[in-house]
Amino acid sequence: MSFLSPEWPERVAFDRAHVWHPFTQEKELMADPPVPVVGAEGCDYLLADGRRVLDGISSWWCNVHGHGHPRLVGALERQAGRLDHVMFAGFTHEPALELVARLRPRLPANLTRAFYSDNGSTAVEVALKMAFQAQMQKGERQRARFGALREGYHGDTLGALGVGELENWLTGLFRPLLLACDRLAVPEDPRRELNPDLTDWPEKLEQARAEISAFFESHGETLAAFIAEPLVQGAGGMRFWPPELLQEIRTQCDQHGVYLILDEVMSGFGRTGSFLALEQCNVVPDFLCLSKGLTGGLLPLSMTWTTEAVYQCFWGEVSEGKTFFHGHTFTANPMACAVAIASLSLFDEEPVLARAQQMAVALQTAWQDLAELPCIRRARTLGPIVACQIVDPATGKPHAAELRHGWKLHRRALDHGLLVRPMGDCLYMMPPLATPPERAQQAVATLIELLS
Ligand SMILES: Cc1ncc(COP(=O)(O)O)c(C=O)c1O
Repeated sequence: MSFLSPEWPERVAFDRAHVWHPFTQEKELMADPPVPVVGAEGCDYLLADGRRVLDGISSWWCNVHGHGHPRLVGALERQAGRLDHVMFAGFTHEPALELVARLRPRLPANLTRAFYSDNGSTAVEVALKMAFQAQMQKGERQRARFGALREGYHGDTLGALGVGELENWLTGLFRPLLLACDRLAVPEDPRRELNPDLTDWPEKLEQARAEISAFFESHGETLAAFIAEPLVQGAGGMRFWPPELLQEIRTQCDQHGVYLILDEVMSGFGRTGSFLALEQCNVVPDFLCLSKGLTGGLLPLSMTWTTEAVYQCFWGEVSEGKTFFHGHTFTANPMACAVAIASLSLFDEEPVLARAQQMAVALQTAWQDLAELPCIRRARTLGPIVACQIVDPATGKPHAAELRHGWKLHRRALDHGLLVRPMGDCLYMMPPLATPPERAQQAVATLIELLS
């Protein structure tokens, strides 16, 4: 017997009476209630009213192989029957070890130690705390600040929020509670645009390099670590930024004794066309944060990888107080690890990245048509991610935020079988890597129809 009404309207009323949704002005949901989802198959969601909707944003950027992939579901079922959960303090288990063994050869060779947690924010928290503690234990006691990119996003827990962009609505309010952070602005990479204006680009790139150098001159001695999302700042508005500048940041980190944390929570697992985004940047970090696509998007799990040198900073007798005192109940959950192993097996056995590349080409070709619309500016692509800005064609400027243009587009697209969720004036798509190319093209055609 269910506690719920069999009818969706009553269930949604129950939701409105008792549930609080993330990133949502709940008042808005009274007029425009949450959409009931009853299933997911491949790259589609199945809605309660019978609609089939293409998941154009990979289920909050985590889905890789499509929903309900039998290999992942099978791994979950088998592992649930064997060992569902065990504390990871003082215990170990096969799925946690197998996952480390499988992932390690795919990472930069200096990353030899994996610390498990259970979501992207905690992967970042772990990196921040480890970097800080390592610096303290090396005697670098003045290094109590962090460096980060403007417009960055690293999660919503207070530590992660502190290294995200401070000046916007999300973090402004919480500023008194946040970590001490110095921010560096980097330009977007015009070479990713479909109609790039490359006038003065070499000079601008040089200027950006000089600014990075000046930033580290000013702050380099007080930073424990610098954190960045390589290649693409996702929540900052799909800002594709130049790999050369990440290389410059790496150089500066080395010169000033600052650890480099790369947050690949979103960009990892094929999302930018390579297995990791750092491969396209030719940069090796001291810490690497992974989550979202780690389990193909099926279960929450994350890892923070670091070097033997960092690990050694924590080595000693208990009485020396060097232990890393951090952990979560679901650290290295065996079921999540088993699913992550199954996901990596698919990367090993099937042409996941090559298929994604075919989808990316289809998506990018269709995006060129969308770029022709008078309301579109700065259409740009990065592997299987496409993005642009929506403007008012009359003024060439973004629509006023209070018009809720993006939200309306999101709702109308659902009626036309597509899930997109613009961030402000940034419209983007990043469907699961396994999306058939023709479905991706069809989705862009739908957007063109709606925006026309
Ligand atoms: C780059 C990046 N880091 C961290 C996070 C936080 O991950 P989670 O939502 O799992 O806490 C996100 C989430 O979107 C992200 O895009």
